[in-house]
Amino acid sequence: MKHTASALAIATTAGFAITVMSFMEAGAADPQVERGKYLTSFSGCFDCHTPGYFFGKPDMERYLGGSEVGFEMPGLGVFVGPNLTPDKETGLGDWTEEEIVTALQKGVRPDGRTLAPIMPWKSFANLTDYDARAIAKFLKSLPPLKNKVPGPFGPTEKPTVFIMKVVPPEEPVQPKQDKLKTHAPQ
Ligand code: HEC
Repeated sequence: MKHTASALAIATTAGFAITVMSFMEAGAADPQVERGKYLTSFSGCFDCHTPGYFFGKPDMERYLGGSEVGFEMPGLGVFVGPNLTPDKETGLGDWTEEEIVTALQKGVRPDGRTLAPIMPWKSFANLTDYDARAIAKFLKSLPPLKNKVPGPFGPTEKPTVFIMKVVPPEEPVQPKQDKLKTHAPQ
């Protein structure tokens, strides 16, 4: 009896170890996910979609879990970088890879709304299909995190977040016409 119990324990431990190993291998074996991780590390997603980033202390525990700073777009409103982790209620859990690729490259959400231009989708339109899909796959591989960012706020609404905004100068700035003329073709 004792023998059987310890044999069972060994078998269970071995089974668990094999499961963990194959899970790790599966994660490391997908080069497209690795590529997506690399691409998101320098294309600004981290900055605009991770809490704490704009205060100099990005919260790596909540990597890409949604910002707390909104961007004010004149005439459009205030937009906060949403949660990009695969949480079903507050993140991209219900989005397909295809829908993420469309948002990245065409700026259109599954509900048809066009994303504010502070989300640089016009630049991301230049991503190759492989790279856009790599980013989508990487986002889907993140641990899901529950965090619903506030907004978007319309132009007349009162935002409840920190805001980055473009403020016009007090005196209107005249373009340097003379200088421009010297460079204009004759
Ligand atoms: C300069 C800031 C900025 C950068 C850089 C940026 N985003 Fe965004 N992103 C935003 C904002 C703000 C929104 C919300 C816009 C809106 O609601 O209209 C957004 C929206 C999105 C959405 C739609 C999510 C939703 O719930 O509607 C996705 C997906 C997304 N971004 C992915 C990315 C990825 C991936 C990268 C990097 C490759 C990236 N973003 C880079 C600011 C940014």
